[in-house]
Amino acid sequence: MTAFLYLCIALQLLHLTVAIAPIVPTVSFESSSTVSIPEGTSADVCLTITGAAAGPITILLGATDQSAIAPDDYTAPSSVTYIPGGSNIVCISITAVQDNVDEPSENFTYTILAGMGDYAIGAPSNITITIPGAPPPPPPCPCKDRIATLACKHMENNGEYLPMPCRELLGNNP
Ligand SMILES: *[C@@H]1O[C@H](CO)[C@@H](O)[C@H](O)[C@H]1NC(C)=O
Ligand SMILES: *[C@@H]1O[C@H](CO)[C@@H](O)[C@H](O)[C@H]1NC(C)=O
Repeated sequence: MTAFLYLCIALQLLHLTVAIAPIVPTVSFESSSTVSIPEGTSADVCLTITGAAAGPITILLGATDQSAIAPDDYTAPSSVTYIPGGSNIVCISITAVQDNVDEPSENFTYTILAGMGDYAIGAPSNITITIPGAPPPPPPCPCKDRIATLACKHMENNGEYLPMPCRELLGNNP
């Protein structure tokens, strides 16, 4: 009888232990390599879920400004819902804002935050998102000079008086 009682208590404790520490899936970024998102475009950043989830889980995410500042430079969701049963990967779309400012490359950090105990955080738990700087403006079109040179040559051939810019142009393009 006493042995039975102990068995019951042991089973109760076991139950308690299981209830306190359920097995939860681990969430990590699919890759630790820096993601580059040009201004005015969006890109997917993906999370890998390892292990079975009992049901849908809401994964909390946090963006930390470095040189890129939200929401002027980027928008990134603060959570994503994972629904088990299909792929073990869930992706988030991040947008780099087109701000038409000539600026150097900027970045921010995106991190998996602790949830409601329904997932554990694996590694990598953060990723750096880079927004490359705007490309330098294209060189000026050389057509304007070519047209002016042709006009000057025409004047020269007609024996007309050559204004100063023409003399310079023809000097450079004989
Ligand atoms: C992020 O930006 C900072 C400051 O602009 C820079 O020092 C750092 O190297 C950048 N990190 C990456 C991974 O590009
Ligand atoms: C980012 O992830 C790396 C590798 O998983 C880890 O060593 C580092 O502590 C993390 N940094 C932050 C700020 O969470």
